[in-house]
Amino acid sequence: MLKTRDILDEADKRLRLVSKEVKFPLTKEDKKNIDTMIEYLHNSQIPKLSEEYDLRPGMGLSAIQLGIPKRYFVVVYEYEEGKFENYILINPKIISNSMEMIYVAEGEGCLSVNRPVEGIVPRFARVTMEAYDMDGNKVHIRAREDLAICFQHELDHLNGILFIDHIDPKNPFKGKDEMREI
Ligand code: NI
Repeated sequence: MLKTRDILDEADKRLRLVSKEVKFPLTKEDKKNIDTMIEYLHNSQIPKLSEEYDLRPGMGLSAIQLGIPKRYFVVVYEYEEGKFENYILINPKIISNSMEMIYVAEGEGCLSVNRPVEGIVPRFARVTMEAYDMDGNKVHIRAREDLAICFQHELDHLNGILFIDHIDPKNPFKGKDEMREI
């Protein structure tokens, strides 16, 4: 079982790598990693389990956060109290996005950033992602609001970018009035 300590911390240079495209069929190892990542995110969002296994809660995880420089990420999204939808995006890209920009009022979090960071991370309010599923089928996924933010955050990881990179330390709330807070 994956533990919080297995997830790379921001000080680890591997998080700065640009991950490589995945070739199909997936290796057994990648399938196992995907299952492990989903299990972690699911358990981490259930208070009883997160406490029992000492898991820091998170909704998204990219392969590179486990030191695997491959272009895939998973998201476990609680769309209703206690109900979760799993998303597995392999070789993902944004094929369209809204003009409208949003940001998370309380700031974004990341399982690789183990300190509070204040500031605005501008994100598209809506995105359409193109990606491949585990069988190598092309899929299109539309997302809005917090799920859209999560996809953009994870896609950044595949390009070696952390959410903190988007924040100007001299003016962390720059552009606040031009975006909608969620
Ligand atoms: Ni992250």
